[in-house]
Amino acid sequence: MLRLVVCVSGGGTNLQAIIDAIADGRIRNARIVRVISNNPGAYALERAKKAGIEGVCVSPKSFETRDLFNDALLEAIKEADPGLVVLAGFLVAIPPQVVKAYPGQIINIHPALIPSFCGKGYYGLKVHERALERGVKVSGATCHFVDEGLDSGPIILQKAVEVKDGDTPEVLQRRIMEEAEWVIMPRAIDLIAQGRVVIEGRNTRILPEK
Ligand code: GAR
Repeated sequence: MLRLVVCVSGGGTNLQAIIDAIADGRIRNARIVRVISNNPGAYALERAKKAGIEGVCVSPKSFETRDLFNDALLEAIKEADPGLVVLAGFLVAIPPQVVKAYPGQIINIHPALIPSFCGKGYYGLKVHERALERGVKVSGATCHFVDEGLDSGPIILQKAVEVKDGDTPEVLQRRIMEEAEWVIMPRAIDLIAQGRVVIEGRNTRILPEK
């Protein structure tokens, strides 16, 4: 059974998608052992509670320096002994010590087709604002492994989503969540839990079902 720690910052709809996918068997052989939020007010913590999952808050505001916060975050992850760390709308740059402790064992969902609209400053609604400003006709989501860079690790799954005339950032965000994020994030976790994702340098290869 793959032990998942899910890190969140806000509404937690991606966390909910994972909880639902485990419940209905789309994610096999995995369970969430802890949810970690950097934000005490995150509704995601409420979702964890409702699902009977332990939720903990590690807020940067409770620490004097960023280093102390980073160490506390690593400790909160380690305590839960995960096989996979899932960043599901975790809007904190993942500290290098965490990446080092879990090489190839951290995945993130990004609300655009990487390498478009990613990297520094591209998070949450801002991603969709920039995509609409640029006038793209297609956007989407990417699930990828996390390395030392920002949105730069090996891509596991991507899904394209149509941009429609009159879209606002909120409308586009919702469509990308529904059609892409809530689909590919659970799918990627299932593939990893089945041992079907192999990292090859900057790429990944998905092995056929046994
Ligand atoms: C999601 O759209 C996720 O892709 C994005 O934040 C939102 C969180 O929503 N993540 C990033 O922008 C990471 N760079 P949620 O809390 O409802 O899952």
